[in-house]
Amino acid sequence: MSIASAAEVSPRPVSEPYRLRRTFAIISHPDAGKTTLTERLLAAAGAIQSAGAVRGKAGQRSTRSDWMEMEQQRGISITSSVMTFDYDGLTLNLLDTPGHSDFSEDTYRTLTAVDAAIMVIDAAKGIEAQTLKLFEVCRLRDIPIITFINKVDREGQSPLDLIDEIQGKLALDLTPVLWPIGQGVDFGGYIDLIEKRVLNPQGKIIAEYEALEDLLEVEALVENPVFMTALETLEMAQAMLPTFDLDTFHAGHLSPVLFGSALKGVSVAELLRTLGDWGPEPRPQPAIPAPIAPADKKVTGFVFKVQANMDANHRDRIAFVRLCSGTFERGMRLKNVRSGKDMAVSNPMFFFGNNRELAEEAVAGDIVGIPNHGTLSVGDTLTEGANINVTGIPNFAPEIIRRVRLTDAMKTKQMAKALSDLSEEGVTQVFRRMVGADWIVGVVGQLQLEVLSARVAKEYGVPITFESLGYEVARWVESDDPEELKRFITAQKMNMAEDRAEAPVFLAQNAWWADRAKQDWPKIRFLTTKERH
Ligand code: G4P
Repeated sequence: MSIASAAEVSPRPVSEPYRLRRTFAIISHPDAGKTTLTERLLAAAGAIQSAGAVRGKAGQRSTRSDWMEMEQQRGISITSSVMTFDYDGLTLNLLDTPGHSDFSEDTYRTLTAVDAAIMVIDAAKGIEAQTLKLFEVCRLRDIPIITFINKVDREGQSPLDLIDEIQGKLALDLTPVLWPIGQGVDFGGYIDLIEKRVLNPQGKIIAEYEALEDLLEVEALVENPVFMTALETLEMAQAMLPTFDLDTFHAGHLSPVLFGSALKGVSVAELLRTLGDWGPEPRPQPAIPAPIAPADKKVTGFVFKVQANMDANHRDRIAFVRLCSGTFERGMRLKNVRSGKDMAVSNPMFFFGNNRELAEEAVAGDIVGIPNHGTLSVGDTLTEGANINVTGIPNFAPEIIRRVRLTDAMKTKQMAKALSDLSEEGVTQVFRRMVGADWIVGVVGQLQLEVLSARVAKEYGVPITFESLGYEVARWVESDDPEELKRFITAQKMNMAEDRAEAPVFLAQNAWWADRAKQDWPKIRFLTTKERH
C-alpha cells in the first residue's frame, strides 16, 4: 500500500493564519470513550497537565467541557462548549457535542460549525445507534471523518470485522493508519503505517521498516504469533481497502482508521498527528447569495449556539460564533444581517471549557464567544456590512409539546424572561398560543424538559411544571397565497401558536390530524424545519 508520508501529502502552509486552524468535533455513542479521549487529546497536545487533571472531585466523570451541575450528576454532556488549544504550530478548536440523543438538535447545529469529525467506536460494540445518527448529520455536509476504534485493550470484534461493519453500515470507505497487534489481554502494540514502524503499547518504537515484509526479518516479532496474525490481517485489509487519498478524505468519502485505547493513551498522539497533518483547513461556508470562501478579506461569521448564564455570577448570554472569513479584531463593528443592526464587539472571548480569555484577533475556523443581551440568536450571520446569510442552520419541529404551569402566579414576568432567554439558546422552543395566553414549550426529547425546569428553577428562582395539551405534532405553516394562510389560521385558531419570531405554527393531536390538514389545505406548506434567519 502506498500511503504517502504526512509531510508529502500536506506541507503545512504558513502564509495565511486561517490555514493553520483545525476545527473539529468528536462524535460517538455514549460510553464509547469520548470523554476519556477528549482528556487524552488535551493532555497529548500539552493543553492540560495530565488526563486525570480534568476529572471532577471524588472521581466524578467530567471533562472541563462538562460544566453544568446536571451534566456532572448524570455523567452526560448536555451543552456544547469549545476548547481551543495549540498543537504543533496549529490552533485546534474542539467543539464538544452533547452525546445524549435528546440533544440531537443542538448537536446538529454544532456540527454545522466544524470542518472535520473524529468518530469514536467501541471495538466490542461496533456501530451503535447514536454513532449512526451523528454520522448521517456529518454526511449531509460531507464532513471528513477520522475513525478511532477504541478500547483495543479489551476483547472486541476483530479489526477486519469492524472495518467490514463500518463500511457496510455507513457506506464509507476506510483505510488503516494504525493497525493493532492483538486485542484484550493479547494487545501488544501497533503498526504505524505512516511512519512505518512498530510500537509497543507504551508507544516505544520496537522496529522500523521500508516495506512490511522487512518486519519478517525481526526475530522478536516473527516469534510472536499475535504479531504474525496481525501482519496477516493487515495484509488482507490492504488488499481489500483503498489507499489513502487526501482529496477523497476531504470530500468526506474516505476515512483513515486508527485502533487504540483512550484509557491507556494508546494511539492518541497518532490521532492528533492525523488530524493536524490531514485534517482539512476551514472549508467554504454555504451562504446566500454565494458560499463564503475562508480567504475572503471581509469578516463573516455565524452564530451556531447561544448559551445563557454560563457564569452564574454574571447572568450573561454568550453567542458562539464560527468565523467563516476575514481577520476579526477586538472592537470591530459587525452587522447582524437579520436585524440590520451594527454592534461593536468589544469583549469577544476564546474558550477552554468554562475558562475564557479575551480574543484580540480571530480568523476563519475560530470560534469566538460574544457576550450580548439578546441581540444575537442562533443562525444569525455577522458581516462587515454585506447582506450575506449563512444557510443550513435549522430549527426542528419539536416532538414533545407541553404547556408551562407556574406554581407561583406572582412570578409570571420572571417565567416569561426565563423561557425567552433559554429559548434563545435554541435548545428549547417557546410558543404562545394565539387563543389564550398559554406559554408552550416544544423540545425534541424528554431530558430537555427536565433540564429546562431545573435551569428555570435554579437560574431564575421560578418553579415550573409541565402539562400535556394533547398535541403531539407541530408544523410551521406558510403559503404563497397570504389570503389562504389567513383563512387557514382563522379556521384553525384554537390549534395555532406563534414562535419567537411570530411565525405561525400549527399544532395537531397526532400525525393523522396533521396529514388530514395537509390534504384539506393543499396550498399550505407544513414544515418540519424552519431556517433560522
Ligand atoms: P463517553 O464520554 O463516550 O460516554 O465515554 P467515557 O469516556 O466516559 O468512557 C466510558 C467508559 O469506557 C468509562 O468507564 C471509561 O473509563 C471506559 N473507557 C474509555 N476508553 C477506554 C479504553 O480505551 N479502554 C477501556 N478498557 N475502557 C475505556 P466507566 O467504568 O463507565 O467509567 P469510569 O469509572 O472508568 O470513569
